[in-house]
Amino acid sequence: MDKSSIEVGVLVGSLRKASFSRRMAMALHHLAPPHLRLSVIEIGAMPLYNQDDEAAAPAAWTAFRDEIKGADALLFITPEYNRSIPSALKNAIDVGSRPKGSSVWNGKPAAVISLSPGVIGAFGANHHLRQCLMCLNVATMPAPEAYIGGADKLFDAADDVVVPATRDFLSQFMQAFDRWIDRFVPAVPSR
Ligand code: FNR
Repeated sequence: MDKSSIEVGVLVGSLRKASFSRRMAMALHHLAPPHLRLSVIEIGAMPLYNQDDEAAAPAAWTAFRDEIKGADALLFITPEYNRSIPSALKNAIDVGSRPKGSSVWNGKPAAVISLSPGVIGAFGANHHLRQCLMCLNVATMPAPEAYIGGADKLFDAADDVVVPATRDFLSQFMQAFDRWIDRFVPAVPSR
């Protein structure tokens, strides 16, 4: 990994165009350390995982797996659906985890941001996601935790975060994520 430019694949749990989770991904471009290069890895076009299809894996699965493999680190930004993660995100996790023995998640450093218009900040989704990532040997940053409430009042028209305390928190969160990623980079001189 070249520490002057770290490729962070961003997985957005919502598929809707005006998604607050997607707007958060946009906002983080301005709040993350500049050497963290954030790009969204799309999950919406993948067929539902069906083990029968592995013999001739759909192109969308293969492209997704290649994109995850190419990322140095992963940032999950997700809403909560019925106290868990949206099915599109679970499908992406399942697709990446197979074929058995070839999981593309293995050993990747990661972080989770959950958000909701409500006050609990999608806590349930955040922890269900962490549970899935644990068994896939994803090194998910334990702290700081990011449960972002009031997501409907967070962004301006340019997708910048307008709540100063949240902006400061997200900036600190991304600095912590940078240090977390650093722990998984072997024997490269410090910046
Ligand atoms: C929701 N929403 C929701 N919110 C929450 O805080 N806890 C929940 O369990 C749920 N459950 C839920 C289920 C389904 C099917 C939908 C469509 C929505 C509301 C959700 O937080 C809200 O719609 C967000 O705006 C969705 O995130 P995006 O699309 O803005 O990123």
